[in-house]
Amino acid sequence: MNKTILCIGAGYVGGPTMAIMADNCPDYKVIVVDKNEARIKAWQSDTLPIYEPGLDEVVKRARGRNLFFSTDIFGGIEEADIIFVSVNTPTKTFGAGAGKAADLQYWEKTARDIIEHSSGDKIVVEKSTLPVRTAAAMQRILQSNTKGLNFEVISNPEFMAEGTAVTDLQHPDRVLIGSMNTPGGQAALQRMLDIYLHWVPREKIKTTNIWSSELSKLVSNAMLAQRISSVNSISALCEKTDANILEVSAAMGLDSRIGSKFLRASIGFGGSCFKKDILNLVYLSEFYGLPEVAAYWEQVVLINDYQERRFVAKICNKMFNTIAGKKIAVFGFAFKADTGDTRESPAIYVCKMLLEERARLAIHDPKALENAMLDLTGETGDITYCADPYEAVKGAHCIAVLTDWKDFLKYDFRKIYELMEKPAFIFDGRNLLDHQAMFDIGFNVYPLGQPALSHLK
Ligand SMILES: NC(=O)c1ccc[n+]([C@@H]2O[C@H](COP(=O)([O-])OP(=O)(O)OC[C@H]3O[C@@H](n4cnc5c(N)ncnc54)[C@H](O)[C@@H]3O)[C@@H](O)[C@H]2O)c1
Repeated sequence: MNKTILCIGAGYVGGPTMAIMADNCPDYKVIVVDKNEARIKAWQSDTLPIYEPGLDEVVKRARGRNLFFSTDIFGGIEEADIIFVSVNTPTKTFGAGAGKAADLQYWEKTARDIIEHSSGDKIVVEKSTLPVRTAAAMQRILQSNTKGLNFEVISNPEFMAEGTAVTDLQHPDRVLIGSMNTPGGQAALQRMLDIYLHWVPREKIKTTNIWSSELSKLVSNAMLAQRISSVNSISALCEKTDANILEVSAAMGLDSRIGSKFLRASIGFGGSCFKKDILNLVYLSEFYGLPEVAAYWEQVVLINDYQERRFVAKICNKMFNTIAGKKIAVFGFAFKADTGDTRESPAIYVCKMLLEERARLAIHDPKALENAMLDLTGETGDITYCADPYEAVKGAHCIAVLTDWKDFLKYDFRKIYELMEKPAFIFDGRNLLDHQAMFDIGFNVYPLGQPALSHLK
């Protein structure tokens, strides 16, 4: 049996997913290809293109043994008979469905590459997040080959989260495999099971029809984002009523039907997936003539935007209704802790709004400064990027905490207070810091969804 696996797309999903697969399946050869030469070079080097705790060790163990990174896409297609496709599926920015539907051009391009460079039957695995029923289009494109080849399409969406990718992939809550109910589909499913059973217990592998699998991924992301927007909407109500969102979340979370995870108030969700996947769900609902369903899910995104605007409005309001010319130390730009990824980070939108108010920004992040610079390229205003937090706060009027990096907890906030203008403010958009301790040092502290701690009368 051919035991070569190819993955097209060496991004945040393709790289870590295949590294874990190769590590656990020494009897398979795993090749990861990408059209982006710089990215492949980085995967081959000591400085991987993405930061994930524990990833360096896994890659070092498997690379050169049975894990290979390459730009030879066509050679990889020829060699492997199982092809994972993990290319990006961003929101469409043009034509019908612009702003909501998924842009499938990268995905379709890979299908055409597969047809052109295959000389044997293949299993094509949807690893990217795709609209429900994409597999049908895929199957049609692939079967249009004139070489008499057979292609089986499998849906195997990825549920790992950035920042915890290695643990999520090594110990997944579930692996979902959707297949066609045909003899070919079932044989392809068995090949997938053979791979995953190397390290995932059978009871954690859920097999479904292909449409349920595609839709489950979109809905899982939508439900997670919906929890964040639900809690964030209540954080606004807490601030009006002196209720405390930490207490409300803890009380709610004790109900086993609700569960305690994903109930932390914040400036909002980010990352490359949540927003695009919900908008995709909204588009699909509209497409299938379900406007009420579409409006329901769209509200999750609207609340997220609202929470970012509300945070900036609070900064302006509490700092005497003007931040023009005031220096703001932005602590954290990544969309969450333990990643350098800033795609759709709330920090991008918050910083742009602060710049519109003519604040001066000093941005500090342990891993995301390079991406922050790219994200804010072209913005007019006074922006500095500081690897050193103490440099960032020098002469600042306030600190805006935008990412929940645990590193921030280790900083010397007495020293920070000394370096800042007075009165010194902290706006904690992640409810990360010890607010009472900050207040005792002298800061005026504005958490999210909790009573403020202010020395100002
Ligand atoms: N990032 C996450 O946390 C996450 C989690 C689960 C699922 N997903 C989904 O997985 C998919 C990939 O996400 P990502 O974050 O890894 O994206 P990414 O942008 O980091 O990586 C995609 C890679 O595909 C490459 N690519 C695009 N077209 C190509 C082609 N025709 N040939 C060769 N390479 C090509 C790009 O150069 C890029 O390096 C998306 O559908 C996403 O929604 C992402």
